[in-house]
Amino acid sequence: MTRFTSSLATAFTTTLLILTMNITSADTVSIDTLIAGMTLEEKAGQMTQLDLMVVTRKGAEPIELDPEKLREAVVTHKIGSFINNGVGHALTIKEWTYVLEEIQGMIRKENPRPIPLLYGIDSIHGATYVRDATLFPHQIALAAARNPELAAISARISAAETRAAGLRWTFAPVLDVGRQPLWARFPETFGEDPLLATRLGVATVQGFQGDDLGSPGSVAACLKHYIGYSHPETGKDRSPALMPDWYLREYFLPPFTAAVRAGAKTVMVNSGEVSGVPVHGSKYLLTDVLRGELGFNGVIVSDWEDVIRLHTWHKLADSPVEAVRMAVEAGLDISMVPLDYSFATLLVQLVRDGKISEKRIDESVRRILTLKQELGLFENPAVEAAAAVGFGKPEYRKAALDSAIEAMTLLKNQNNTLPLSDKTRVLVTGPTADSITALHGCWSFTWQGDDPKWYPEGTRSVVDAIRGRIGDSNTIFHQGVSFDGSDVDIDAAVRAASTSDVIVLCLGEEAYAETPGDIHDLDLPAGQLELARRLQATGKPVILVLIEGRPRIIRPIEPACSAILMAYWPGSGGAEAIARVLFGDENPSGKLPFTYPRHSNHLVTYDRKYTHSLGEISAPGETKVITSDPQFEFGHGLSYTTFEYTHLKVEPAILKKGGKALVSVTLANTGKRAGKECIELYSRDLFASLTPPLKRLRDFRKVELAPGQSTTITFELTPDQLAFVNGNSETVTEPGDFELMIANLKAPLRYEN
Ligand code: BGC
Repeated sequence: MTRFTSSLATAFTTTLLILTMNITSADTVSIDTLIAGMTLEEKAGQMTQLDLMVVTRKGAEPIELDPEKLREAVVTHKIGSFINNGVGHALTIKEWTYVLEEIQGMIRKENPRPIPLLYGIDSIHGATYVRDATLFPHQIALAAARNPELAAISARISAAETRAAGLRWTFAPVLDVGRQPLWARFPETFGEDPLLATRLGVATVQGFQGDDLGSPGSVAACLKHYIGYSHPETGKDRSPALMPDWYLREYFLPPFTAAVRAGAKTVMVNSGEVSGVPVHGSKYLLTDVLRGELGFNGVIVSDWEDVIRLHTWHKLADSPVEAVRMAVEAGLDISMVPLDYSFATLLVQLVRDGKISEKRIDESVRRILTLKQELGLFENPAVEAAAAVGFGKPEYRKAALDSAIEAMTLLKNQNNTLPLSDKTRVLVTGPTADSITALHGCWSFTWQGDDPKWYPEGTRSVVDAIRGRIGDSNTIFHQGVSFDGSDVDIDAAVRAASTSDVIVLCLGEEAYAETPGDIHDLDLPAGQLELARRLQATGKPVILVLIEGRPRIIRPIEPACSAILMAYWPGSGGAEAIARVLFGDENPSGKLPFTYPRHSNHLVTYDRKYTHSLGEISAPGETKVITSDPQFEFGHGLSYTTFEYTHLKVEPAILKKGGKALVSVTLANTGKRAGKECIELYSRDLFASLTPPLKRLRDFRKVELAPGQSTTITFELTPDQLAFVNGNSETVTEPGDFELMIANLKAPLRYEN
């Protein structure tokens, strides 16, 4: 195997060397030489991405590639990229090694001009498709942790475990800002705030890519899904979004802008349409904005089948060939076709017919080959020995546990119900209590994540972790109801409640991904609420643990819950993290990265406007406050200790163009145990040329304080942090009065040009 790998490596390096003989300067020149010798078919092949299932033997376990089908792909069509796992579930490192050696080996042996294949994979919260990989909390949970360092560490480990399988390109992070909680991909986002998504997105890109893409611990990141995917009007996946340009730029563009500037190598396009234009066909969004304004010079890849769908779904292109023309002219480099050769064939036809210039194709091929070169694929295209040793290190589990712990968000804790003592006799119940799949959510060893068969042996559920913590004799388990709310045995759970001291009621959602996760409203299934009500009627304290990717409505059962812990989809360390927080080994410090709605049809974000909150005048001079009473506000999250904020100061109180203000605040831990707290600085523009939101997050920092300890922290605020995108799509800071807010403290600030 090692011999095979090294001979592969030699072959590809030699290709590049032979082709670059006489050339002494930079790498880009050698790529140009390579391109100069390529046929049009080879170039179209480089721009084509197929699903591995196109070349696998159906039903074979372990995976087997079909040599004839593989030959058709990589020799006849010179396909440049594959995705996915080919069989519907994660593969072992050994299987991945086999897959890559077969593919790269055939390219080397049978192609006169062998160009290594680039494999892309959805390592979304860990190496999704590598058996026994460590899975981290989903992005929504990392956003609750408010700790960019943790996001970077999880991405770094995810990169190491991905590359250990020979895969060097991940389709992550998701930089869609999650402002529509009904959307099935909400859990994949960093929540509703652009700044949070920006900071965590940049940290994630840095974690994936490191300082050097060629290093065995790095993978290329893919910012997705550019742009406007996360706010579909109906909440359904891949359905239309309506966004004025200023709105798109204000709320959805910033994370992409920052991550492009941080050096992200690739971008995946939004499958949906924005204001009537499918993004795959939008030259404005892909070329003018992404390449022109943001300066992105990496690879733009389509999402699944989305070039074909410009014709079949969106009805923008009146033929398949027109769809290819539109997407390529809009700026696409690689089409995730992914099940046939239509894109490559039609692209060749378009160039031959003079409808697309070969120069345009060369631009894309140059970007693709440059990426392959930066990833070290020409040197060694298979699994690198130095990368393989990066898999499964014990410290990865610890990192997953640490992130899960920091994500845990304590939403309610009446009379300090939590933490529980070790001696408590606990009934653990509900559909998520004994489910390992609900803890991991989507992209967990399978696309949907809902098949426990592919999870590592010994993966623990919440009830397992509680048993491990307080022993069998003090832990009673009855599921009560299933995920869809059907009665498994509610009566048994209710009977068991009488023999317990407290009830840990685990409700929420089973794993789901993309369109299969579409729902029509956010209400919890009636049976889950029924279980809660029956248990609440016993009079025993009910501790609600929410294991869910998006906020499901708990209004009917919240008042009778003594405590509520939001766990999101916390991944490999999730069960342990929940148990450790419930029993006080850890002090929770997560803060909601979204506004938790009280009603399914009343969805607002924290940066809502005055008119979201003020009703009509019901009598002269009287303004009636009618709405915006979310169940829990963005940023809400309790601790087992108490914090006090004092001394908010802003200096100077008048900020001038080009200047900065220092905003300081003192935070004291006034409770009895150590705790972490995320300090959040908000601003409010009192009057603006577009109606201003009530507040916007401008900066945040997480600190840890011992009991009795206090600290003063200072944020530097510049005028651009007070800017917004106006109705002409210009980013402006308008002179006038602002209010700065940290916790319950407020201070004025004036901005003068
Ligand atoms: C998803 C992408 C994903 C791609 C490849 C698509 O259905 O929208 O997020 O990267 O499949 O698996």
